[in-house]
Amino acid sequence: MPHFPAPLQSRLPAVGTTIFTVMSRLAQDTGAINLSQGFPDFNAEDALFDRVSHWMHAGANQYAPMAGCLPLREAIVRKVEALYGTAYDVEHEVTVTAGATQALFTAVAALVHAGDEVIVFEPVYDAYGPAVELAGGKLVRMQLRAPDYRPDWAAVAAAIGPRTRMIMINSPHNPTATVWSADDLAKLAALTRGSGIIVVSDEVYEHIVFDDQPHRGCAAHPELAARSIVVSSFGKTYHVTGWKVGYVVGPRELMAEFRKVHQFNVFTVNTPVQLALADYMADAERYLRLSAFYRAKRDHFCHALAGSGFELLPSHGTYFQLARYRALSDRPDTDFCNWLTRDVGVAAIPLSAFFADGRDEGVIRFCFAKNEATLSAACERLRGVEPMAGR
Ligand SMILES: Cc1ncc(COP(=O)(O)O)c(C=O)c1O
Repeated sequence: MPHFPAPLQSRLPAVGTTIFTVMSRLAQDTGAINLSQGFPDFNAEDALFDRVSHWMHAGANQYAPMAGCLPLREAIVRKVEALYGTAYDVEHEVTVTAGATQALFTAVAALVHAGDEVIVFEPVYDAYGPAVELAGGKLVRMQLRAPDYRPDWAAVAAAIGPRTRMIMINSPHNPTATVWSADDLAKLAALTRGSGIIVVSDEVYEHIVFDDQPHRGCAAHPELAARSIVVSSFGKTYHVTGWKVGYVVGPRELMAEFRKVHQFNVFTVNTPVQLALADYMADAERYLRLSAFYRAKRDHFCHALAGSGFELLPSHGTYFQLARYRALSDRPDTDFCNWLTRDVGVAAIPLSAFFADGRDEGVIRFCFAKNEATLSAACERLRGVEPMAGR
């Protein structure tokens, strides 16, 4: 086995393997039911696969245009205008990406300069921090606090200064399953008014919002739309997380910079899949029915855990459910998740993984993007957890 012959200075010294990989591997090794990583255990519709196969056989197998296949960009722009009211320009204001992760990374690499400050809200999705660090930016971490995890706008106002280049937001929010209100967007708009601050709005769960609330995205707020790169993911919307296709929309000035990096970062994204997604998007019901589809799973999961020692926090969107376990154990959350996986046979994610300082509130995250049989089997095991069984 070859070894690099000199000391290596890491550009991300604090970063190890993500908790999602760690917990999924542990679930696999122990045979536990995996409610940790956020992906469905059911398949997408054959109709989608048929379109991919169609385009492959039709010869659509070479590089797509750098910004994305025109039919897909047109379908995205139509959807965004119909749902949120902003008409983005197909040529200059929409780009198809290799999933939301690449979109987020590219947005930061293209728009954050060394020394710039980037505001994020903790608990924060783990891809944001390393992207900012690699760009030479400085993370400014706002805290969302249990049990409602609302932004503290006075704290955000105090944190904004001359070095603030970007604010990264995420609604519906992973991991807390909170959804921003119209007032939250109004506050953000007021705080950024007159500034050059760029908003990166991670809206990968835009179609998974419960309890008759609308998703309030930056594209629905004209003032924020003008300063935002809005990120979405077909993986989340169409149950194909492994395909890694997403998109961004934003004003042309920001998109021009985004594309300068995108063209060297990935250049272009899987052609037959793009064309298939364009066809599949023609039926709006396929994304419009997603909220009801996941609400039924959330309700099934919560109902099946009623009476257990887990205290369920509200889940207003996404396919995640937070649970407090302090009535069951006083272990740190990472230990508790390890124990739950090995001894109870259900894998979850410790919330401390989403905090830079490892803040432990005795809260764990379950993913309910699973078949009802999977959820029922997991809940039966979870209901059996006795107080202090795992200490
Ligand atoms: C908040 C958030 N942003 C981005 C992503 C990444 O999306 P993709 O798989 O399209 O890269 C995820 C996936 O879990 C997520 O939860």
